[in-house]
Amino acid sequence: MNDPRPDYDIAAWRGRIPLLASCIPMNNCSQAPQTDATRAAASRYLESWNTSGMDWDTWMEEVGQAKTEFATLIGAAASDIAVFSSVSEATSALASALDFDRTRRNIVVSEMEFPTVAHVWLAQQRRGARVSWVAVRDGTVDPAVYDKLVDERTMLVSSCHGYFMNGFVQDVKRIAARARDAGAFSFVDAYQTLGTLPIDVRDLGVDFLAAGNLKFLMGIPGIAFMYIRPDIVGRLEPTVTGWFGRSDPFAFDSKTLDWSATASRFDAGTPPVINAYVARAGMSMINAVGPTKIRPWLEVLGHRLIAGGRERGLLLHGTDDMTRKTSTTAFLVHDSHAVESAMRARGVLPTARGSVIRLAPHFYNTIEDVDRALDLLAEVTRPA
Ligand SMILES: Cc1ncc(COP(=O)(O)O)c(C=O)c1O
Repeated sequence: MNDPRPDYDIAAWRGRIPLLASCIPMNNCSQAPQTDATRAAASRYLESWNTSGMDWDTWMEEVGQAKTEFATLIGAAASDIAVFSSVSEATSALASALDFDRTRRNIVVSEMEFPTVAHVWLAQQRRGARVSWVAVRDGTVDPAVYDKLVDERTMLVSSCHGYFMNGFVQDVKRIAARARDAGAFSFVDAYQTLGTLPIDVRDLGVDFLAAGNLKFLMGIPGIAFMYIRPDIVGRLEPTVTGWFGRSDPFAFDSKTLDWSATASRFDAGTPPVINAYVARAGMSMINAVGPTKIRPWLEVLGHRLIAGGRERGLLLHGTDDMTRKTSTTAFLVHDSHAVESAMRARGVLPTARGSVIRLAPHFYNTIEDVDRALDLLAEVTRPA
């Protein structure tokens, strides 16, 4: 039988990632490598700044194009997207638009949230919110727990799509439906899934979906986006706001809080322009390869990681069911930071998180990359 291959020209894409000449990046759940496109995008901004001094119209257009790329990735319109500097900031802006009163004050949060999101919800306790937790067991979450915790007192359900520890993927469509039935909002942090699989916010039925750019979207820190369902946006007035949230930011009218009719009411101050240049280029690459083609290849690599880890006696963290996880695969190790350093020194980039070492291939990684990473992990963790 022929070896499986992705349904795109992987060699051509690999040729656009200079880092591959010197090492194997398997740390895409943390920071994706630079590409010729993201580097050129950063240079375009620097060039524009250097030669024109100031070109706000073009710069704002670039921010708009970045919103468009994000919207394309999730099946939304650019007008449904707001821009932030981080997911923490997006979540905080959303929290500031919610009023917690006696009738609806509960926030249902999963333990698999990236801590920053959970922290934003915990901080709302001072504003009257009550947080209840959906437990993680054996590195996964049972969706039935949401059914029990979500009720008519729930204001919002916060469910991370992909678990940062081990790539476990929650059924956010089911969770959003449960929230909707109870009259609650649903918020999804898709930072660990976006770029690895197709996402359609309309099909999922979620109210809010946020993600940053430096992981599977091939971008950099300092920029994040949030989708806000268009038929609820008019009801939301975030107190974390600023002039870009106005219907006409350039009216320069200090005394009028004219809310934009679209998701840009969640925009606040001057957007992160150079980051938007890079983010647009990274997301455009992912849209060009196509999440529908990326997912089958990541399933191949994920299966290889699970089976190859087992063959080498490595201890998997979380599920071995590839229908419920991304390619991010975690193995329990004694000292994850020492393992990361040892692997880095020998040309493979994994990422350490607590008790696990994560191997997170992306669309450009090969089966050989996965095998090399597993061999090295087995070698550096073998008892002396
Ligand atoms: C799932 C998830 N959410 C959020 C974050 C961080 O968000 P922020 O942009 O606020 O740093 C990370 C990792 O950095 C993450 O893996």
